[in-house]
Amino acid sequence: SQNIYILGIESSCDDTAASVMLNGKILSNVVAGQKIHAEYGGVVPELASRAHQQNIVPVVHQALKMANVNKEQLKAIAFTRGPGLMGSLLVGTSFAKSLAYGLNIPLIDVNHMQAHILAHFIEEDGFNKPPFPFLAMTISGGHTQIVKVKSYFEMEVIGETIDDAVGEAYDKSGKVLGLGYPAGPEIDKRAQLGNPKAFKFTKPKVDGLNFSFSGLKTAILYFIQNEVKTNPNFIEERLNDICASIQYTIIGILMDKLKKASKETGIKHIAIGGGVSANSGIRKALKDGESKFGWTTYIPKFEYTTDNAAMIAIVGYLKYLEGDYANQSIAASARLKL
Ligand code: KG4
Ligand code: ZN
Repeated sequence: SQNIYILGIESSCDDTAASVMLNGKILSNVVAGQKIHAEYGGVVPELASRAHQQNIVPVVHQALKMANVNKEQLKAIAFTRGPGLMGSLLVGTSFAKSLAYGLNIPLIDVNHMQAHILAHFIEEDGFNKPPFPFLAMTISGGHTQIVKVKSYFEMEVIGETIDDAVGEAYDKSGKVLGLGYPAGPEIDKRAQLGNPKAFKFTKPKVDGLNFSFSGLKTAILYFIQNEVKTNPNFIEERLNDICASIQYTIIGILMDKLKKASKETGIKHIAIGGGVSANSGIRKALKDGESKFGWTTYIPKFEYTTDNAAMIAIVGYLKYLEGDYANQSIAASARLKL
């Protein structure tokens, strides 16, 4: 059998990432984050694309070096075409096109959301791959979807957020509480030390399998403002309980829809992906679904949940096997659909 080396490149948001894969196995997985956005409390698109331009050459170089692979050994270059920030996508797209052209090897375009799902097909000891059809809940700073996955490339979005993504709900709640950006990991850490039933936030009423998270931030903001009126130290004194209660509410919203989706489709193989699937509470709630609802669950390795290029490389590999290549006229697409 052939040695198929694929280089994956990801630059859709604020992480510049490159990964080298051999026959579905990861040889290197390099991510350069961008600290610059923390002081603005969110990603600043113009700064993100500039940082990608600075990072892309060293990151790709590092990925090849760590994999001990020469660029001449590569069989194809896979890159994130979208969805994401246009300026950020352009950097990875132009770089991938040039490199593929220079090396005279196939160029493969990858949908970022598809990649979050297909990350489950990276060859990895101790991780089972979900059988088709399965349900995938992709939860990140930009997306919240429930997807029915019928095959590698046949995916149907059966539910999604009508406003904010779940990661935004974490990050915006964190802002109200004076936490740094992104706030998800810190809320998660504190939630594990607090009482999830200390405070009650109402869940939004949304039809079908869709989600809404924009109301939650406002509910939290008013709640905090009100409490601080009587006790100026309220946030400091109760921060862990507040975080635990927010997390409890968010997990409730996600699990309600996931249960409904499983019931309606009759599918009990459930996978998660995206940055928020690093969340300890969500991982636990999902795992509990195994005994409660007879689910089999698939939770990716931590480094394949947040934005990374390994997930781009695996889609590149799967498309390479099908001979599904892009040509040099392909353009980045900020609103690319699944
Ligand atoms: O997938 P990702 O790295 O980037 C996007 O494509 O958006 O996701 C980033 C999001 C951020 O909103 C961050 O707060 C959230 O994932 N996040 C978490 C946790 N780790 C990262 N949210 C909750 N709990 C976590 N442990
Ligand atoms: Zn992502």
